[in-house]
Amino acid sequence: MRRKLIAGNWKMNELKTEGLELAQAVFDKCAGQKLPFDVLICPPMSLLGMVADLPHEVVGVGSQDVACTTKSAGAFTGDVSAAMVKDLGATHTLVGHSERRTMHHETDEVVCQKALNAMDAGLTAVICIGETESERENGEALTVVARQIKGSVPKTATADNCVIAYEPVWAIGTGKTPTTEDVAEVHTAIRQELTSLLGEKTASQMRILYGGSVKPSNAKELLSVENVDGALIGGASLKIEDFWGIAATQL
Ligand code: PGA
Repeated sequence: MRRKLIAGNWKMNELKTEGLELAQAVFDKCAGQKLPFDVLICPPMSLLGMVADLPHEVVGVGSQDVACTTKSAGAFTGDVSAAMVKDLGATHTLVGHSERRTMHHETDEVVCQKALNAMDAGLTAVICIGETESERENGEALTVVARQIKGSVPKTATADNCVIAYEPVWAIGTGKTPTTEDVAEVHTAIRQELTSLLGEKTASQMRILYGGSVKPSNAKELLSVENVDGALIGGASLKIEDFWGIAATQL
């Protein structure tokens, strides 16, 4: 009943020509298809409007972040509000990616406010969580993700306006992935945590993506794990062969 979501996070990559070519290639793959899964691409803010303006069907287009302020406009140099992202034609936004939590010191509270801003603007927030390597080594992975869920997921979240992405920090861009048993354990714990936060019905409908070194060769296995409802793909989303190689495992 939960449709899988195959999402690409381009991070700070792609200038105009290559970025529009990559987006077009994704749109071409999906055009006229009745795919059994949803597709989302998250280009950098510089390309978001141009990508969203390319004629496309079905595929969602998302930003990688939105502003944290509760003000709808004003003196916030460098920030782009959720309403502005929506106005460009986006459908989704990532919030709380580990690179933002680490490099920009974003707390759960900040991530929660960004998610709320996204939802208020009519975007679906893809809320990213995940433990660091030392947290996993210390046996704290489940505690950490439970705390992040409690702190970063707004109580008003629904399966329509919110997606969770579990991305162990140590698996991002490293080529390392958790075992399928570990993925199953964390995703099940996330589902339980969502149940106590949002209730059984919402929690059972909400999609939980896995992210961190997903590639065509491991996608089928990772995406077949119980409670894994899709993938958030970084490096491999920058090459259409790889991105579509991952998606095609679900055809
Ligand atoms: P990766 O990144 O696929 O390159 O590991 C995933 C992410 O950061 O979303």
